[in-house]
Amino acid sequence: MMELSNKRVLLGVSGSIAAYKSAELVRLLRKQGAEVRVVMTSTATEFIQPLTFQALSGNIVYSAWDDADRGDGMGHIELARWADVIVVAPASADLLARLRQGMANDLLTTLCLASASTIAVAPAMNRLMWDNAATKENLAVLKQRGIHVLGPGAGGQACGEVGLGRMLEPEQLVQGISGLFSSGILSGAKLLLTAGPTREPIDAMRFLSNRSSGKMGYALAQAAIEAGADVTLVSGPVALATPDRVKRLDVNSADEMYEAVMSEVAGSDVFICAAAVADYKPANPSKEKVKRKDNNVDLALTQNRDIVASVTALPDKPFTVGFAAETSDIEAHARAKLKRKGLDLIAANQVGDGQGAEVDENAMTLYWADGSQHLEKTSKAKLARQMVTIIGEHYRATTRT
Ligand code: PMT
Repeated sequence: MMELSNKRVLLGVSGSIAAYKSAELVRLLRKQGAEVRVVMTSTATEFIQPLTFQALSGNIVYSAWDDADRGDGMGHIELARWADVIVVAPASADLLARLRQGMANDLLTTLCLASASTIAVAPAMNRLMWDNAATKENLAVLKQRGIHVLGPGAGGQACGEVGLGRMLEPEQLVQGISGLFSSGILSGAKLLLTAGPTREPIDAMRFLSNRSSGKMGYALAQAAIEAGADVTLVSGPVALATPDRVKRLDVNSADEMYEAVMSEVAGSDVFICAAAVADYKPANPSKEKVKRKDNNVDLALTQNRDIVASVTALPDKPFTVGFAAETSDIEAHARAKLKRKGLDLIAANQVGDGQGAEVDENAMTLYWADGSQHLEKTSKAKLARQMVTIIGEHYRATTRT
C-alpha cells in the first residue's frame, strides 16, 4: 500500500550538506504516492541545484520570493494552503532559529508562518551546534507549538566529527512523515462528533439559530481521522465539505441531533459535542408561514433535551468531551458544566466580539477534574490537532485503568 497516496508534501530544503539526501527523499515520497513541491533557501541552492529537485518532483522549484508567483498560478499563500504537510529537511540551526522567532525573511519561513498545515523539521547540523543551549531552546519552543521534530540521528558528520546532528536517512524520514498523517493516538477508536449549529423552526420559513459555522467541529473530525479514529459526524446545517473518510449525518434541529446521536452512540469510545445546540426551541412551531400582524408576537420557548448530558447518563457511556462557549468567567462556567453534564473533559472558548464562532482561528482551554491546559490562539486546524492529542491521551489513560 502506498502510505502517502494523495498527500501533498511541501519539502523545504535549507542550507546544509545533508541537502543532497533530500533528492532521494523526494524520490521516495513520490514512490509512496505523495505529490511533492520543493522550496529551497538561497543557501540550499549553493549545496544542490534546483534542477535536481525539479526533475525528481516533476514540479517547478521555488526559492526566490517571486518564484511562488511564477507560471503555475501558485502564489505563496496558495502554496502554503496547498500543502497537507510542510517538511523542512534538512533544517539547519539557522532555519530552526528563524522559525522559532516567527521570521518571514525568505520564502520558506514565510510559508511556514502562513500555513495551517502540519509542520515537521528534520534537523541537520554539527554535533556542537545541536548541543548548543540556543538550539535546544529553539527546538523546545517549536515542539511546544506543535511542530514535529524528526531526528536527528547520530554518526559520522561531514565535518569529520562523530555525534548527534545527522539528518535522518530518507527512508526513516518517509516513515516519520507517514506517521504524521496518523498520530495513532485514537487508532481503532470509534469516535462520534457533533458540529455546527441547530435550527429551531418557528414556522414554515423561519428558525432560531446561532453563529456556529461548523469549522471547529469539522477540524476536529479531520484531526481525529488523522489520529486513526473511525469518525461519525452528526452535523447541523453548514457550508463545509465532509473530510475524507468521515461518515456524516446531516440534521437540522436539536431534536434531530439528539435522535441521530442516540442512534449512533452505542459502541462509541469517544463522544465530542462541539455543536452549538440550541438550548430552547419555539414551543408551537407553525406549519404555515406566520403572517405579519400589527401587534408584537410573543414567541413561547421550551427547553431542548441536553444531548451531551443524555449521553453521559448512559450506563455504557463513552469518554465524553463537551464544549463551553462563554462570554465571561470562562473557568467557573466551564467547570460547572463539566460537573453538571458528567463530562470527562470540557473545551472552553470565548465567544462574542468576533471570537470563537464563524472565524478561522480560535483559542481553547481544556479542563478536567484535576487539571487544565490552555491552547493559544491558532488556526482551527492546528488547534484541533492539539486538542485531539490531549483528548486521546486522556481517553487512553482512562481505558488503561
Ligand atoms: O462552529 P464554529 O463557527 O467553528 O464555532 C465553534 C464553536 C464556538 C461553536 C465551538 O467551539 C463551541 O463552543 N461549541 C459549543 C457551543 C455551545 O453550545 O456551548 P454551550 O456552552 O452552550 O453548551 C455546553 C455543551 O453542551 C456543548 O458541548 C453543547 O454541545 C452541549 N449541549 C448544549 C445544549 C443542548 N441542548 N445539548 C447539548 O448537548
